[in-house]
Amino acid sequence: MRKLEIIIRHSRLRAVKEGLLALGVRGMSITDIKGFGRQGGHTEIYRGNEIQVDFVPKVKLEIVMKAELVDKAVDVIREHACTGQVGDGKIFILPVENVIRIRTDERGVCAM
Ligand SMILES: Nc1ncnc2c1ncn2[C@@H]1O[C@H](COP(=O)(O)OP(=O)(O)OP(=O)(O)O)[C@@H](O)[C@H]1O
Ligand SMILES: [Mg+2]
Repeated sequence: MRKLEIIIRHSRLRAVKEGLLALGVRGMSITDIKGFGRQGGHTEIYRGNEIQVDFVPKVKLEIVMKAELVDKAVDVIREHACTGQVGDGKIFILPVENVIRIRTDERGVCAM
């Protein structure tokens, strides 16, 4: 099992979600986040204080899926989230040790 942490533009959320559902993804969590990539991180002086001006709003999806699905999921995400402009986002892929469905105590792939 793998966890995908996917950071994309809000405008691409619906298309990415629909694409992943069609692929067989069964659950996800989303969070509004702010951040920066390699273009970001500069500061500006505002009323004498140094402030960070370039935390750009994005949305993060967290999805646990079978390892076999990851390559297809990455293709689907790129198909729907890529505009070709800077700031299209990132996909982080992490190993997942176990999943437990609280209601039934199912474990592992059965619990996803
Ligand atoms: N190394 C990182 N660690 C954690 N979050 C990151 C990292 N890089 C980017 N992010 C998050 O992803 C968002 C989008 O990043 P972004 O697409 O700008 O990456 P990039 O590396 O600058 O690529 P590009 O050159 O295409 O813009 C950022 O606003 C931030 O929230
Ligand atoms: Mg960037």
